[in-house]
Amino acid sequence: MFKTKILKPEPGSFHPEEQFASAVCEGLSLENKCLPSWLIFDSDGSKIFKKITELAGYLPAACEFEIIRTHKNNIANLIAGDTFNLIELGSGDGCKTRILIEHLLTRELNFHYFPIDISQGAVKNLIESLKDNHRGAHIEVTGLIGDYFEGLKTIIQDGTKQNLILFLGVTLNNMGPDTARSFLKNLKDSMRAKDYLLIGFDLMKNPKLLYSSYNDPLFEKFNLHLLDRINQELGANFDKEYFVQQGQYNPNTRAVESYLYSTRKQTIHIKALNEDFHFRAWEAMQTEQSFKYTLEEIESLAVENGFEIVKHFFDSKKYFVDSVWKVTN
Ligand SMILES: C[S@@+](CC[C@H](N)C(=O)[O-])C[C@H]1O[C@@H](n2cnc3c(N)ncnc32)[C@H](O)[C@@H]1O
Repeated sequence: MFKTKILKPEPGSFHPEEQFASAVCEGLSLENKCLPSWLIFDSDGSKIFKKITELAGYLPAACEFEIIRTHKNNIANLIAGDTFNLIELGSGDGCKTRILIEHLLTRELNFHYFPIDISQGAVKNLIESLKDNHRGAHIEVTGLIGDYFEGLKTIIQDGTKQNLILFLGVTLNNMGPDTARSFLKNLKDSMRAKDYLLIGFDLMKNPKLLYSSYNDPLFEKFNLHLLDRINQELGANFDKEYFVQQGQYNPNTRAVESYLYSTRKQTIHIKALNEDFHFRAWEAMQTEQSFKYTLEEIESLAVENGFEIVKHFFDSKKYFVDSVWKVTN
């Protein structure tokens, strides 16, 4: 029988609404204005991102879809018993995970799926569409709206089942090196010896391919959505007409960096912060970053943070890897 539930875990140290205002204030006050990409993901931001993942030219998603389709059987073979938790951190609309879920159902494995995401709309839509597609199936789904670690604590703290934790879709690529390290350390502390982590990494490739992946008009819409969100949530007066987006690989930081450029000199007032922010003509504000990894860097990242690598699953062009890790004993 198909059973679903949506939970909002008790917020711990992460309060997205309050942190939205402080992250905006902090980012716009920097000499080189820079806003973290998680700010873009409200319900509408998640909808635009879903469309991006459907673009053939957006290689991180196209390659990861191919990996899940090709290796779903090998991924399912990681499960030792006949009952387990499938936990997805930052699930978004769970479009890739559905391929795995369908496969797990055909193998009649008994599992509980926990998508966790700060975007309420993404979790609700995901659960609705699973319900529509698998009404008669034997699957339990609990959506958790909130931060990764609050969700994980709720699931793992007193459970005994094996956990397969998915962290798909370049979400780790979006973190700077220090944030990625502390994220992985927290994750390691939440996992037990028999659990597996399957984590997606976009690999370094020809910068021309990186350029075309990050400059579709939908990317501009996605990044400009952040201005709408700041207007809605903090009473700002950004006018999207006066900003354009461009993404570019930076060999010094080794990340594709997306910027919104102010096309003219302008002052933005944000009511909730009671502050004015000044933009020079063609001043750049960074809104996204996606670090690109080599395989050696991924292997060091795993080992330095207390994991061992169990397996790498690649797409046919080796542009992307879903790497399976377990905690080192
Ligand atoms: C790059 S998208 C990836 C979505 C999906 N996993 C995929 O592969 O298409 C990152 C997702 O992580 C979510 N997210 C960002 N920060 C989060 C946090 N601290 N806790 C939970 N979810 C978060 C966003 O809302 C977004 O849905």
